[in-house]
Amino acid sequence: MDLDHILNELEQKGLRNDETQSDKSLKYLNITKDTGEFLRVIVLATRSSKILEVGTSNGYSTIWLASSIPIEGTVTTIEYSERKAEEALSNFKKADIANKIVFLKGYAQAVLKNLSDQYDLIFLDADRSKYMDMMQDILRLLKIGGLIVCDNAISHESELAEFTAYLRSKQNFSTSLVPVGKGEFLAYKSYNEQV
Ligand SMILES: C[S@@+](CC[C@H](N)C(=O)[O-])C[C@H]1O[C@@H](n2cnc3c(N)ncnc32)[C@H](O)[C@@H]1O
Repeated sequence: MDLDHILNELEQKGLRNDETQSDKSLKYLNITKDTGEFLRVIVLATRSSKILEVGTSNGYSTIWLASSIPIEGTVTTIEYSERKAEEALSNFKKADIANKIVFLKGYAQAVLKNLSDQYDLIFLDADRSKYMDMMQDILRLLKIGGLIVCDNAISHESELAEFTAYLRSKQNFSTSLVPVGKGEFLAYKSYNEQV
């Protein structure tokens, strides 16, 4: 299926589902379309080709990211829900993009510990209360010159307060809050911290 078509279809499906679904675990909670467009510009402008995403859901944001990287690039994406994993894998096939995606099923806090690559961009869109637990692994996996992008930075500002304050306080990071979609918090890593 054509990429724009599948992105539009998933956008509409997500909006319809989340409006009527009362069980939060069954909502898709996708990024907004303008966030997808923003991520695409960021990926292209930073020439990112190795991306790590925490929180796949049905794969809407993953498809935006994977369709923005070069042919040899990869998006590694983590999701713990069995049901959403199945939907995401089916959507990756439909979008003909499965070859650029490494899907890892499990709790991100545990999965991250087994990763050792360096990523150009880390996109966070999962359980916000766990980001501080993941922080040391996120910092370890982000290359020098890499970027963290965190969704919901305006819609759920207070839930992310400790996380954003921590990165803002670090000498080796430059940060910015961008009012796109639900609010994107950006943190650019200039160098590794001395230990
Ligand atoms: C906001 S949704 C992700 C939406 C997706 N990024 C998109 O825009 O299409 C968050 C997803 O993260 C998953 N999740 C939440 N906490 C997680 C964790 N600690 N480890 C793995 N997956 C998690 C949830 O099951 C849910 O599907």
